[in-house]
Amino acid sequence: MELKEQLLKLKMVMFGGKGGVGKTTCASSSAIWAAEHGRNTLIISTDPAHSLGDSLGQTLPPGIPTPVEGVENLTALEINPRANMTEFQGLSGMSPIEDMGIPGMGEMGMFSELQEFSSMNPPGIDEALAFAKVLEFIETDHDYDLIVFDTAPTGHTLRFLSLPETLSGWIGKILKLRLKLGKFFGSLKRLFKSEEKSETDSLELLEKLNTSIENARDDLKDPSINSFVVVMIPEEMAVAETGRLLNELIKYNINNSNIVVNQLFPENAELCDFCESRQSMQQKHLARIREIFGEKMGKNVIQVPLFKEEIREYPKLKEFSKKLIS
Ligand SMILES: Nc1ncnc2c1ncn2[C@@H]1O[C@H](COP(=O)(O)OP(=O)(O)OP(=O)(O)O)[C@@H](O)[C@H]1O
Ligand SMILES: [Mg+2]
Repeated sequence: MELKEQLLKLKMVMFGGKGGVGKTTCASSSAIWAAEHGRNTLIISTDPAHSLGDSLGQTLPPGIPTPVEGVENLTALEINPRANMTEFQGLSGMSPIEDMGIPGMGEMGMFSELQEFSSMNPPGIDEALAFAKVLEFIETDHDYDLIVFDTAPTGHTLRFLSLPETLSGWIGKILKLRLKLGKFFGSLKRLFKSEEKSETDSLELLEKLNTSIENARDDLKDPSINSFVVVMIPEEMAVAETGRLLNELIKYNINNSNIVVNQLFPENAELCDFCESRQSMQQKHLARIREIFGEKMGKNVIQVPLFKEEIREYPKLKEFSKKLIS
């Protein structure tokens, strides 16, 4: 499916690739294009080093969906990787489980399970839980027709894509443990912050969160719902990294049919020796990209020229979208 059709038909389109290649620019201009073609669009940045606000030319308060000025039907959100931690109080503070001194737990054979759970608190759990909230949000009631993701450079994004699996594993284990330990496991009573919530309420919340995450996992893998657009530049290292990223997407079962080759020196421009030399280097790599990813793997290879100026704010993003989406 071509990018244009994806932006008109799918519920989610993700932009990803190596650092600095133009992911945010492609995501912002695609979101503007979709919004102007009648789709109520939300663009979400999952990159902790956000630049979505800079690209759109407006401040985006962390974690708050904000209407994009001057574009009807477009809302932008930079997720706050730490803000939601308090909601999950109890999860992060479970390491000193052995010290709880709950009588009878040893005999019940619970230690090994609790210890296993403690070891599942890897660094970055707060970020994982923030993603969980985003996944929960996209799976619950909202009015958006399309969600465009501006992702972080490859490695981080691959971790993000593996999160539904990881999170649902964690939550599944918490649920199992809670059911097993019942009232003994006092520290889990306040998994969600509000004290007035009863045990049953918080269990229900966890179960709901788990269902949302499982649905998100299925949606990310469904080509009629989501597709991943790989953005790259025509250079050797980018070709190698794109190959690895495509393999990972296949592993995660995430659809990809479009590859954007960005920042190509325009063909008919008058170029100095320096730029001509770079242009011929780019053309050599472009030919390989077209052969490997285009002909052999059957991807649409979208070529976008290097502009004279940087691409920021509405008029430039709109100009960019004319080259990206045709
Ligand atoms: N085709 C282009 N012509 C001119 N400038 C471009 C083009 N594409 C992107 N840029 C500029 O390159 C810079 C990097 O682009 P962008 O922020 O979209 O990359 P990114 O892949 O999102 O980077 P990061 O990995 O840091 O998130 C920006 O200043 C952007 O305006
Ligand atoms: Mg970016």
